[in-house]
Amino acid sequence: MPSGKFITIEGIEGAGKSTAIKYIEAYLLSQGKKVLLTREPGGTPVAEEIRQLVLSPNTKEVIDSKAELLLMFAGRAQHLARLILPALSAGNWLVCDRFVDATYAYQCAGRGLAEKWVALLEEFVVGSLRPDLTLLLDLDPALGLARSRRRGPQDRFEKEKVAFFEKVRQSYLERAQREPNRFCVIDASQSLLTVQDDLRRILEKL
Ligand code: TMP
Repeated sequence: MPSGKFITIEGIEGAGKSTAIKYIEAYLLSQGKKVLLTREPGGTPVAEEIRQLVLSPNTKEVIDSKAELLLMFAGRAQHLARLILPALSAGNWLVCDRFVDATYAYQCAGRGLAEKWVALLEEFVVGSLRPDLTLLLDLDPALGLARSRRRGPQDRFEKEKVAFFEKVRQSYLERAQREPNRFCVIDASQSLLTVQDDLRRILEKL
């Protein structure tokens, strides 16, 4: 059984995941925890190569949705074997920027693939491992996209229309409702200080 805690952060683009993760890291370190930050897609050299491929806005051909789904899980298999599982058994608090919930939100709700395929791949690749805590930074996609577009060049997902992210957001909120013990939903439209207060209160409980 892993002895560290596994925390995942989810939300649409521009919801403030990166800022939240920096705060979480500082808070956990102040509590004397061993902390490791990672992300999906990515997290190991091979999984980062897959990330480049799936996020690049200039792929040589259109990436089919099924191929996109399998690439997400290929990276995840590598990430789990080489980083997540060893880090958890070594007692780290692992903070992961996105995990399987993102696949349900983006590939199922966003791209329209049936959830049964993701459930099948989840069982195959992830087994019974689930995050101890999933923080969902919830934000109106119009606000999030405006924020993320100010940051620079758009990746393949950021080029999608607001309607795509509305579906992604709804899927995240439904998942949070279905699993209230694992998810904490944070209103990301609040001030930075209020978001940080919410994060601290949630982490104190954990
Ligand atoms: P980000 O981590 O920089 O926010 O970008 C990663 C992008 O990849 C984001 O648009 C969501 C997308 N994604 C999926 O579509 N499926 C997944 O399973 C994961 C982990 C990410």
